[in-house]
Amino acid sequence: MRFVLRSLKLRHFRCFEAFETEFSDGLNCIVGPNARGKTSVLEAACILLRLQSPRVSKLAPVVQHERQGFVVDGYFGQRHLQFYFSRNRKKLALDEVAQADAHEYLQVGRVVYFSNTDIELVRGSGEVRRRFLDFVAVQRDGLYRNALRAYDRALRSRNLLLKGYPVRWREVAAFEEPLLAAGRLVSEVRARLVAELQPEADAAHRVISGSREELRVEYRAGAGEDFAQALDAARGEDARLRQTTVGPHRDELAFFLNGQSTEYASEGQQRTVVLALKLGAMRLLERHFGRTPLLLLDDVFGELDVARRNALLAVLPSGAQKLVTTTHLDWMASGLEAHRIPLG
Ligand SMILES: Nc1ncnc2c1ncn2[C@@H]1O[C@H](COP(=O)(O)OP(=O)(O)OP(=O)(O)O)[C@@H](O)[C@H]1O
Ligand SMILES: [Mg+2]
Repeated sequence: MRFVLRSLKLRHFRCFEAFETEFSDGLNCIVGPNARGKTSVLEAACILLRLQSPRVSKLAPVVQHERQGFVVDGYFGQRHLQFYFSRNRKKLALDEVAQADAHEYLQVGRVVYFSNTDIELVRGSGEVRRRFLDFVAVQRDGLYRNALRAYDRALRSRNLLLKGYPVRWREVAAFEEPLLAAGRLVSEVRARLVAELQPEADAAHRVISGSREELRVEYRAGAGEDFAQALDAARGEDARLRQTTVGPHRDELAFFLNGQSTEYASEGQQRTVVLALKLGAMRLLERHFGRTPLLLLDDVFGELDVARRNALLAVLPSGAQKLVTTTHLDWMASGLEAHRIPLG
């Protein structure tokens, strides 16, 4: 069984006034010159299914310039998904029934996004790694989204109070209970996910690198061993910096090859590691739901050398639905069947 995106319709989405396309259930190639909207089509598929862009954390920049809001609309299997977004309004419908919250809607689709900027997972800030982890965790466990939102709300309120002068600690303390409760949940879910991801990513890494190097993924809690204690100990620092300095918003992920931090790994090694992490996430979701997620691959193949391209093609489940963007099809082996979607 697979998750299959059958069609996609856009309105006022990035460079598209309107756009409509259908997809095959296998390999789909979105082909066109630069700046024609290839990445935007993948982004739209991701937003339709997960209400989240893989490029940006806020959806406002996705709205076409000079427009109020965008619409993404499509069929995933038999389910009809519709999402309208504007700066002051969001509307969701599942099978033409308006949804008050996103819970049931988000149960429909599962996605893994590969991009040529994935190397940021190793080289970029902790924010990139937390976003990756949460993107997978919310798909694995729908209720996790509530914990994340509750934590975010409590954190923002506490930080706002810390900006006051003098800091009113009794009011600050009132936000600490929800902060601690949501924070503990967030840490728990992330730690569990990393434990689940570890063997999958390591296995994927062995296949694509063809090496015996062991890939280890380590979760480092920004709340330390005991969040309440850490928060207590950080009060002086928090007052000085006027923000909450400990907690899951400071969580980190660290990667090691044979015990060596990937900070020091070569570019090729780093690219292999991030690919293994994405493939690991795919396997994890596949195992959990018994279906392969939709695979979105942005500009990945054109960038890889032949050996790694073939390794990647070989390791992607042949039956999975894939949407691939590319400026040219030179890399495609003859005999590989693909549904082409030309842009521009
Ligand atoms: N909110 C927006 N409103 C209007 N146009 C936008 C908006 N956001 C981005 N664009 C434009 O959309 C165009 C398509 O961008 P996109 O990244 O999808 O192109 P692409 O085909 O993936 O290009 P490349 O091959 O360079 O990766 C760009 O010219 C960009 O400037
Ligand atoms: Mg692009």
